[in-house]
Amino acid sequence: MSAPRKIAIITGTSGNLGINIAYRLCDEIPSDHRLTIIVTSRTLVKANETIKSIEKYNDEHSHRKTGFLDFDYLLLDFGDMISVATAIYKLKKDYPKLDYLFLNASQNAHDHFDYFAATKQMLSDPIGASTCPEYKMEKVGVKTKDGMGFVFQVNVFGPFYFIESLKKCLFVKSEDPRIIWVGSVMSKTKYLSFDDMQLLRTEVPYGGSKRLVDLVHLATYKELYDEYGIKQYLTHPGVFVSFSFFKFLNIFSYYIMMMMFYMARFLGSPWHNLTGWNAANAPIFVALKADIKSDRQDLKYGSASTARGHEYLKIDEIDPTGKDDVLKYLKQLKEEWDEKLKDQVTDTRRAY
Ligand SMILES: NC(=O)c1ccc[n+]([C@@H]2O[C@H](COP(=O)([O-])OP(=O)(O)OC[C@H]3O[C@@H](n4cnc5c(N)ncnc54)[C@H](OP(=O)(O)O)[C@@H]3O)[C@@H](O)[C@H]2O)c1
Repeated sequence: MSAPRKIAIITGTSGNLGINIAYRLCDEIPSDHRLTIIVTSRTLVKANETIKSIEKYNDEHSHRKTGFLDFDYLLLDFGDMISVATAIYKLKKDYPKLDYLFLNASQNAHDHFDYFAATKQMLSDPIGASTCPEYKMEKVGVKTKDGMGFVFQVNVFGPFYFIESLKKCLFVKSEDPRIIWVGSVMSKTKYLSFDDMQLLRTEVPYGGSKRLVDLVHLATYKELYDEYGIKQYLTHPGVFVSFSFFKFLNIFSYYIMMMMFYMARFLGSPWHNLTGWNAANAPIFVALKADIKSDRQDLKYGSASTARGHEYLKIDEIDPTGKDDVLKYLKQLKEEWDEKLKDQVTDTRRAY
């Protein structure tokens, strides 16, 4: 008899959180189960590098035997609906089921740092300055080539479309399917205005997109469970070193940021995990350990660390205001895109 198989997709696997989710799956999925990790990236180079890093981690730490760990990749760009539709098509064609989907990939429209505002916030509110920075200025009104708000499409609509398209065919075939949204501690209600769902007029599209993620989760988790048996959870990774920081920081600003992170943790912030490993604690908990009878799905599971860096979970309530409006908007947009994409991904080898 063949070994039971678990199939996991981690979107944006090449990032610090994504790769640590993969490492922890290698450690924590029972070693007598075959684990297939589907890596996603926008580029083949990063997909290959990521697979090599996970293989190396397994060789050095997890020691899953040959045949108990394998990989595939999807070239997935949530900012391009044809790429999203192609990835969905490939998954439906190649896989009998899906067990875990970690919605981890994300984008922001970073523009520049306002150093005056940074100094002011660091002096008046040092923990807030490194938890919800008010000095990271974002570009306003950026659209994708699909004509949607860039941050909205990558962080919210692309992942929503992905789930909606796969729930009936692949998740439903798993014995214990789980969808894990990665939100943020920055998902404040003030960052979202319901007359700007695509986040095109706001100066804080990233925070707005994470607030939308909270609301999408609240609006959908019940139906996903009742109709398809899918257990969806919302998590956030606290604050940790993102590989994407290196694009924006020089060596000097990098060390200032690290100093602020350690200081915030020392001053009592639970959210300064610093490492991708600790940041992956909540996503891994809800994927592998949460029991829907005792672990409520209407809460947000945060990865937290003590001042000495020991990980723990910190669970918070979520304000549900506006969740139905958000769902209605996304469902309507999905119908429009179903129509636009219906002839895009076809089998070109059929006989005419
Ligand atoms: N870092 C923090 O302190 C922090 C705090 C709160 C929340 N978070 C959340 O935690 C998650 C992971 O954060 P991170 O810092 O590890 O992420 P990251 O490095 O900024 O990005 C993660 C991955 O997203 C992928 N990605 C970017 N644009 C994409 C697109 N258009 N389509 C598909 N994939 C795309 C990238 O993969 P490729 O380049 O390989 O395509 C990248 O490796 C994110 O959801 C983030 O919002 C992070």
